[in-house]
Amino acid sequence: MSLLFSPLQLRSVSLKNRIAMSPMCQYSAQDGHVTDWHLLHYPTRAIGGVGLVIVEATAVEARGVISPDDLGLWSDEHVVGLKELTRRIRYAGAVPGIQIAHAGRKAGTASPWQGGKPLHRWTPVAPSPLPFQEGWPIPQALDEAGLDEVRQAFRQAARRALAAGFEVLEIHMAHGYLLHSFLSPLTNQRTDRYGGSRENRMRFPLEVAEAVREVWPAELPLLVRVSASDWVEGGWDITDTVVFAGELRQRGVDLLDCSSGGAVAGVKIPVGPGYQVPFAAQVRLSTGLSTGAVGLITEPLQAEAVLQENQADLVLLGRVLLREPYWPYRAAQALGTRVWPVQYERAF
Ligand SMILES: Cc1cc2nc3c(=O)[nH]c(=O)nc-3n(C[C@H](O)[C@H](O)[C@H](O)COP(=O)(O)O)c2cc1C
Repeated sequence: MSLLFSPLQLRSVSLKNRIAMSPMCQYSAQDGHVTDWHLLHYPTRAIGGVGLVIVEATAVEARGVISPDDLGLWSDEHVVGLKELTRRIRYAGAVPGIQIAHAGRKAGTASPWQGGKPLHRWTPVAPSPLPFQEGWPIPQALDEAGLDEVRQAFRQAARRALAAGFEVLEIHMAHGYLLHSFLSPLTNQRTDRYGGSRENRMRFPLEVAEAVREVWPAELPLLVRVSASDWVEGGWDITDTVVFAGELRQRGVDLLDCSSGGAVAGVKIPVGPGYQVPFAAQVRLSTGLSTGAVGLITEPLQAEAVLQENQADLVLLGRVLLREPYWPYRAAQALGTRVWPVQYERAF
């Protein structure tokens, strides 16, 4: 039996295999609401055989959307569509998960196919008033009251995610969005207790993790996605990530999803097959926290090796699942495992 197709137990949730769909924005929501696109797109990957579907970055505040076409969880009304989505994902055989997010200073851009540029419709918020790039808005630095609002927004979003039927929750602390921008010294220049030392920069993201863990049931797993490195000298790096992982673990986080980059523009990242896997491996080895590996994992034997070599507990697939929704069946065949829906039996 391959490890890729062995179950993974996270608290009371049992994943049938170690293949997760990585969160990927679809820029297809309306005022934060689920549309038919989501209701078709996600269940297709569930029928395709992944054990866990993590629904895209879903904004906890309206001012925290990456684009106005993002999914949202800032209102009770958003729960209705998401509930139908979780029902379909579960029906199609996967565990429904969702990533909750706040885009911080990178909020308010057009969707990629509309150019992806800042729309300048509102002033985004951040740890410090530093724009992402020239031509981007100067964000407003969050004061104590603002920090409290964001903390509450994450807490409420977690509550609503639960009401919508999600069983796995991931907090987005990567890619230069709000919580990552507190962690990185490149984007956090505060002089209060939320800036300066690593301990201070970790404070707000850890407070958010605590706030979410308080309302997210003890029997359900909580994941965090980080950028394990800014890939910039003097930026956030893997040493910081290992310390942070230990702190998250103490606060009841069950798995660290190890991505990278995004804090600042114009950074050279040595992108290649499995290029972020060593981050997942190091966190797992140094802290004992379970990890997820992501980034250019595209081949069944490659995914299997990540697990066999104890580099991660879960493999997250992004773009390859957009190209090949049925990737897990290809992987099963390559790894000598028989798994497919009975309805498709005659095709194999
Ligand atoms: C269209 C698209 C949308 C994405 N949206 C998100 C997102 O909502 N949240 C997130 O953490 N990462 C997002 N990512 C990053 C992916 O989750 C993944 O980490 C990245 O694509 C690398 O994995 P891959 O090489 O398997 O695609 C997105 C990537 C793509 C291609």
